Amino acid sequence: MHTIKELQDIFTEHLAKQDFFSDPKELYEPIVYSMNMGGKRLRPVCLLAACELFGGDYRKALDPAVGIEMFHNFTLVHDDIMDNAHLRRGKETVYKKWDTNIGILSGDTMFAIAFDYIMRIDDDLMRKAVLLFDKTAIEVCEGQQFDLNYETMPSVTIPDYLNMIRLKTGVLVAASLKMGAIIAQAEEAQADAIYNFGLYTGLVFQLVDDLLDVFSRDHKFGKAHGGDIVCNKKTYLYLKGYELAGEEEKQALDHLFSDKTIEPEEKVQAVAAIWEKLGVPDVARNEIRQYHRKAVDYLDALNVPKKYTGELRRFADELLGRTY
Ligand code: IPE
Ligand code: IPE
Ligand code: MG
Ligand code: MG
Ligand code: MG
Repeated sequence: MHTIKELQDIFTEHLAKQDFFSDPKELYEPIVYSMNMGGKRLRPVCLLAACELFGGDYRKALDPAVGIEMFHNFTLVHDDIMDNAHLRRGKETVYKKWDTNIGILSGDTMFAIAFDYIMRIDDDLMRKAVLLFDKTAIEVCEGQQFDLNYETMPSVTIPDYLNMIRLKTGVLVAASLKMGAIIAQAEEAQADAIYNFGLYTGLVFQLVDDLLDVFSRDHKFGKAHGGDIVCNKKTYLYLKGYELAGEEEKQALDHLFSDKTIEPEEKVQAVAAIWEKLGVPDVARNEIRQYHRKAVDYLDALNVPKKYTGELRRFADELLGRTY
């Protein structure tokens, strides 16, 4: 079995060999830009690691891993349009660098290319893999729609939020791992267990990401500071903040989230200060640790030697402690 670091390098090398460019350049340049602008390559590495965990040949998983990363990048291209985000991985987002129409169309093409790569597996596994991928893609869109709906919905609850991030983020991490299990021809129950590990790891990942959106001090995070606050995103922090707020803080938060004349940076600073005073980040970190525990429980329950799960365990630990 390779280490996560080795799988990252193997994947990067394989990705570098792909040529996504074609004609018209207006369509393909943003695709090349998006795929080559870096990123943690979390999901393809999950796919490769799960494949090896269940005794599969990682080489058979490389193209589907490209497909998963292509799909992920497609969701980012469209997500940045929906979230009015200017910065991604420290660079201009696709729709800012080109325009919205180009972002839409390049994104659509990336979704189709993703299917092409996912299907580059043995014929007898293809149906299972494509059905999983298709179901996951629909769920991600559902999650993205809930995320948008919640921006203007006053009555969002923490269970609503958790369901939303399960869909927009959790299921893709989960499906990446399960895809690896499918390619390795693992037993159904094992494939489901690694899926559940991924689901909880994905929740941890998104909860940490929401924290970093506000509190990251590391420029490597590469996204505009406080974008979620600017958009009134109903994150765990937002919801917990209201739950813990007294009358005075509630009024201050109401004002900050409704007065459109407040400068974005001022809004972010003021909201973050209230959340810190209320101890919201610590409450969030405790909650995140519980999801991490659940993820690890699924990993421990797998029917494979403990020494094989060590890499994924460390991987989950790293995501828990992530600072960018
Ligand atoms: C960003 O995902 C979208 C979220 C689900 C938070 P990543 O943080 O994995 O994005 P890259 O690919 O590493 O840039
Ligand atoms: C993104 O969620 C989830 C998907 C792209 C499917 P966010 O909107 O929170 O991700 P970032 O913060 O822009 O990376
Ligand atoms: Mg979004
Ligand atoms: Mg976004
Ligand atoms: Mg975010």
